Amino acid sequence: MGKVLVTSALPYANGRVHLGHLAGAYLPSDTYVRWRRLKGDDVVYVCGSDEHGVPITLSALKNKTTPQDVVDEYHVANGGAFASALVHFDIWGRTSSAEHHRLTQEFFKVLHAKSYIEKRGSEQYYSERSRMFLPDRYVEGVCPRCNADGARGDQCDACGGTYDVTELKQPRCALPGDDSTPVLKTTNHWYLKLEAFQARLEEYVASHEAAGPGAWRLNTLRGAEGWLKAGLRARCITRDTEWGVRIPLDDAEVASKRLYVWFDAPIGYVTFTQQLFAQRGDPEGWREYWQNPDCPIYNFIGKDNIPFHCITWPAMELGYNDGREGGERPYRLATQVVANEFLTFGGEKGSKSKGNAVEIADFVRQHGADPLRYYLTAIAPEDSDSNFTWEDFRHRYNGELADVLGNFAHRTFTFTHKYFEGRVPEGKPAGPAEAKLRAAAEAARAAWAGALDGFRFKNALAAVIDLAREGNRYFDEKAPWKQRKDDPEACGATLRACLETAGALGLGLRPFLPESSARLLATFNLSDKESFAAGSALRDARDFAKPGATLAKPEVLFKKIEAEA
Ligand code: MF3
Ligand code: ZN
Repeated sequence: MGKVLVTSALPYANGRVHLGHLAGAYLPSDTYVRWRRLKGDDVVYVCGSDEHGVPITLSALKNKTTPQDVVDEYHVANGGAFASALVHFDIWGRTSSAEHHRLTQEFFKVLHAKSYIEKRGSEQYYSERSRMFLPDRYVEGVCPRCNADGARGDQCDACGGTYDVTELKQPRCALPGDDSTPVLKTTNHWYLKLEAFQARLEEYVASHEAAGPGAWRLNTLRGAEGWLKAGLRARCITRDTEWGVRIPLDDAEVASKRLYVWFDAPIGYVTFTQQLFAQRGDPEGWREYWQNPDCPIYNFIGKDNIPFHCITWPAMELGYNDGREGGERPYRLATQVVANEFLTFGGEKGSKSKGNAVEIADFVRQHGADPLRYYLTAIAPEDSDSNFTWEDFRHRYNGELADVLGNFAHRTFTFTHKYFEGRVPEGKPAGPAEAKLRAAAEAARAAWAGALDGFRFKNALAAVIDLAREGNRYFDEKAPWKQRKDDPEACGATLRACLETAGALGLGLRPFLPESSARLLATFNLSDKESFAAGSALRDARDFAKPGATLAKPEVLFKKIEAEA
């Protein structure tokens, strides 16, 4: 039984998470966690709210409230949304916690003491009216790329371009009650000297190129290599804001500045693991995950997070770790960074300002968690963006879950009840057709397991549906409704083979659709413990359908969804 640490990107507590978030970083990680647990591994799964950042202060200003109120609201709402989709983290932490601030400051101090952080002067917009330096998000103007008005300081929503705030044309303050023209003034900020890590990061990234379990996906490799090829440069890690982690320096200038949100957020993975074990009454337990060379670490993220997970966060860890006695490495680097492309809505990325994305809790209220999990896995944006539509959802759900898998299980179970008194029949010894169906189940299981191990969730789920298709083909070919009259013993063999296949399907669904899988296997009258004991991924699903075993009354697993009027 191996230890495994899985993290999902910490969502900003500045809006409700939607299906795009779920498909990108949370559903794949939850599925993977369930898979590893099914294999018998000891998994710790951490996530929590990313509660800092200038956009949160802007939301608070706009809504006449405080940043703390903003994050309190979304921390609860988003935790509930994930739970409704059966995404079950071991801890749902918060970066505003005191422990997190402490650990972040410790990181800063260590990196600063080793001269990986230095103070530099820079030109920054300043509002004379509000007497404050303006973080980029507090400046608006005309986009230097497409000339759209209303472009944000560092990024244009109209054309998606990014630029330096000083390139923005006709800049104006974006403060409520202050749209004055800002002026450039010199101020100091602190910079992380990424260039010091160029060689070590090249080595780290290169070590994830070769095929094998540690191989990164192409999007991840290309993203990281792009940064390395351009040459790493120092990045500013402080901002002019009073919301965030304080800069732990004895310097008058730090009072109105805080650490940049991307400096503290990834440290949250560590903080939350520590908090989890403290809650469990085992305050040193986290070391078994972060400091244990046999414990792989998997980060699940959306593609926009690639540079932060493949360059800046590992640089922080390398800098923190180096020069320690006996080569002690307090925070090991990720084994795998699984980055997904985007789920789009009407061809566009879901965004809060556009309000085009579907909220998780709304979907679940209407259709339940498993149908959502099914569809988002079936169209998982693993190699390219994929588009969500309601019509496609109904089509895939009805056509695959209801008509193929649900129908196969249901006809198998109801037939057994009707003609075999609800008992798994012994029947004739298996013939070539049964052997073929069993071979298909074996092949499906191998494809399923291999795809799950390789983070190819879409393929793994497709292998389950394909097996259900095989089952239906076999059922039709054998026509047990005729066999029953002509050759009852042969009919028994048919049903037994179908019941075994239904068991295999129940197990196959387990990492993806936990509720439906449990309901399907409950028909075999096994407790959840019996069906899903640690290591059960490797057991023979034939165990579920032992001759003579009585079946519970089957229920329809997947009700068809009618087209909306
Ligand atoms: N809040 C970021 C986002 O939504 C993700 C932070 S991931 C972490 O894009 F590693 F920094 F925590
Ligand atoms: Zn633009």
